Parts: sequence; structure tokens; C-alpha cells
Amino acid sequence: MGTSHKVIFTPSGIRAEALPGQTVFDVALAAGVDIQSICGGKGLCKRCQIELSPGEHAKFKLSVDANALSPLTDSETKALEKSLMREGRRLACRAQLCGDAVIEVPSDSRQHQSVISKAGTAIECEPNPAIRLYMCELPKPELDDNPSDAEALMAALRDFGIEARPEHRTLMKLQPILAQNDRQLIAVVRDDQWIIDVWPRDRSDRAL
Ligand code: FES
Repeated sequence: MGTSHKVIFTPSGIRAEALPGQTVFDVALAAGVDIQSICGGKGLCKRCQIELSPGEHAKFKLSVDANALSPLTDSETKALEKSLMREGRRLACRAQLCGDAVIEVPSDSRQHQSVISKAGTAIECEPNPAIRLYMCELPKPELDDNPSDAEALMAALRDFGIEARPEHRTLMKLQPILAQNDRQLIAVVRDDQWIIDVWPRDRSDRAL
């Protein structure tokens, strides 16, 4: 096993150790760093965007090489081509650590957005915990294994540890959205029990 790498996340200042080959997302998750994901780290949702900060960091006593992360993956290249990710950013769940790193988690990649009040105090805003988004990719139906789309969606949500059922209007939208989005979608789930809506995979609504 190779030596571990030091990782510092900003602006939180959280420090962590990473084994070579671990993804930034896995290290962040284990260290309790606030970072968005609605696909569970499968490279689908593009919400876990981070930036490597190369150079000398005297404050952290750390020197960060420009190649401290693994090369761009196909899903990251596609995200750049489709303007789903800005140049210079990486997907935390695809980028693996190859050296010591300072990782910036931009505010739009954090779950808890800081809001500056008129008095100048930053407060943390909790998103509505009753409604959650889950990005899923459903398997293509096979001749000998052909669950209904609703059953396939419920099975995909079980991978996130929830047991949710689709409401009637969700059932009406399900098939066309799957057909138009390579069987990827965002499930809108209330109380981790009811699938109240389904969205196309590229809907960039970050309000929830
Ligand atoms: S967590 Fe969804 S793309 Fe990285």
C-alpha cells in the first residue's frame, strides 16, 4: 500500500488523509465535508464539483502539485463539453488523489449555502429536509429480466437506502422521461416515502 496524502478542504479547513487512488468524494464524505451529491457518487449528477488549488500553501505548510489529481475522466470531459462544468473544475467522485492536495469546495457545490444577512453575519441555511432529490440510472429492460419502469425506479432508490413509491402523476411522466434521457432521471422524493415527481437528468435546479 502506498503512502497516504494530506488533503485540506477549503473554505472549511477540514483536514483529511487519503490513500492513493481514493476519490476526493470518498475522502470528503469520510471527513464530514459538506459536498453535494444526488447520485451517490456515480458520476451522474455533476453536483460534486471541486477545484484543485495547486502551488505553495504556507498557511497549511503544504505544496500542491498541479497533477495531484488523476487525469480527466470521460464523464468529466462530457460535462465540460456540455457546459455542465466550468473549465478548471473536477467532479469529486471521479477525481482520485495522487498527491497532497488543497481542495476548494465552491459554494454552489455545498449542501448548506451560507447567506449573508443585512447585519453582515453569515448563517447556514438547511435545505428542506422533507424533499430530497436522487439521481438514478435505470437498467435497460432485458427479455428475461423485465421489471416495470416503476419497479426499476423503486429498486434504484433502494440503493440509496430508501423505500419509496411513485405517486400517480409520477407514473404518467416516468416512461417518456426515461426514453428521452438514456434511462437517467432525477427522482423527487418526499419524506423518503413518496416519489412525487421525476425530472430530466440535466435539470439544473439546485434549489432543493
Ligand atoms: S456525486 Fe454525482 S456526479 Fe459526483
